[in-house]
Amino acid sequence: MNDYTAAVLTMSDKGAAGFREDTSGPALKQMLEDAGWNVVHTAVLPDDYLTIRSALLRCCDEQKLWLVVTTGGTGFSKRDVTPEATMSVVERSTPGIPEAMRAESMRITPRGCLSREAAGIRGNTLIVNCPGSEKAAKECLGAVLPALKHGVEILRGTAGECGDPRH
Ligand code: MTE
Repeated sequence: MNDYTAAVLTMSDKGAAGFREDTSGPALKQMLEDAGWNVVHTAVLPDDYLTIRSALLRCCDEQKLWLVVTTGGTGFSKRDVTPEATMSVVERSTPGIPEAMRAESMRITPRGCLSREAAGIRGNTLIVNCPGSEKAAKECLGAVLPALKHGVEILRGTAGECGDPRH
């Protein structure tokens, strides 16, 4: 089954070095699977611009996945470069996705505006950044997950009518 394929990439220097257990990646994987996505790839990567860029390019251009969800590397610390690496591979931005995430986050905490996540399309793949903490990542993915399948179906030309309540 090659439909609705997804990857979950965790950006964490400590996670990649084995100093911290990644709980955000598995939590997002579970959410995606519960929503009918086929998570075929997961990885924990250091907060390194070129490493993140290469991983994203492989997911889009080689694996040709439908969706890549990232967690981590979206904050204000100097090592947080996931949005920049994401935007460097994206061909078309999808600003409504991070806008919806931050709108939902601001209902939960005034610090919601501090997460810099981005999202966009490369080829037939949608890339969506989520924050690093498990709580914030789940809240942010939860805010947009109901819309993502319809988005990638439009991207791949398989979407039904927009008024169809099943989408
Ligand atoms: N968004 C949601 N939904 N829930 C949260 O708990 N935490 C905020 C913010 N966004 C939070 C949130 C905090 S405290 C920070 S510092 C920023 O996300 C940046 O987090 P990041 O580095 O994981 O992106």
